[in-house]
Amino acid sequence: MDKRSIGVFDSGVGGISVLNRLLKLLPNENYIYIGDTARMPYGIRSEENIKKISSDCIEFISKENLKAAVIACNTVSSVAVDHLRDKFDFPIIEVVTPGTVDATEVTKNKKIALIATDVTVNSGVYEKYIGMRDPQIEVRSLACPKLVLTIEAGHALDEIGAEIIEDYLKFFDDFDYDTLVFACTHFPLARKNFKDIYERQNKEVFLVDPAYNTALELEKTLKNLDAFNENNQGKVVFYTTSDPNRFRQLAIKYCRLSPDKISPVTVDLEKALRKK
Ligand code: DGL
Repeated sequence: MDKRSIGVFDSGVGGISVLNRLLKLLPNENYIYIGDTARMPYGIRSEENIKKISSDCIEFISKENLKAAVIACNTVSSVAVDHLRDKFDFPIIEVVTPGTVDATEVTKNKKIALIATDVTVNSGVYEKYIGMRDPQIEVRSLACPKLVLTIEAGHALDEIGAEIIEDYLKFFDDFDYDTLVFACTHFPLARKNFKDIYERQNKEVFLVDPAYNTALELEKTLKNLDAFNENNQGKVVFYTTSDPNRFRQLAIKYCRLSPDKISPVTVDLEKALRKK
């Protein structure tokens, strides 16, 4: 029995799509979620800057003596995970490898469309790992920064979101793909809009959310460490680096927890880390 919490980190509310999977698979665990909403979007920042600011977030939540942390952000997973693993001594689980495993297994015609941030697309990590698993698979990637901001503004499931998604998907019109990878954690929050668009277009596309395999990866890690928190009513502590009310409204919209369990607290990272 290990009561220590699991850290979950994203630039904003997108990581809630991963948190939802974790809560479903491992409901007894305690989680500390931090969304760095003051500094998002991460997807247009430099690699060096992403390393620094993601490290600040993990450092802040690590004061709680974590047993593991999940980087619920593809952008950070793409360019900063080695840096974070070097810096912290608890297991750090990322989302890219789990996503590539799923995508490779699911595609039948070996054509995968991928949507992500600029940083993730430019890093080429998905292409690299998918290519290592199956060199015959063709991947076409598109950065969708406007969709990140739209979802962060609360429009994942409405008409505003749908229009932006439909527009971005046109990029793949001449690509006969059977699989779409949500290589940004914000995008699964808009899953219903994607499904409806494909249905209207009469198109069958597998939607790959790396969160599924990421949750299994965490389960494996806890099993190896014999660190499950059995017989416990798990809870989530939420931190945001900007307005807590705004974060709460969005979390209520996107998170599977009931609203009474969502009470985000604002943290000023500079101050909090200076004090340590
Ligand atoms: N949700 C993040 C990801 O998975 C990034 C969004 C952003 O801050 O640009 O890549």
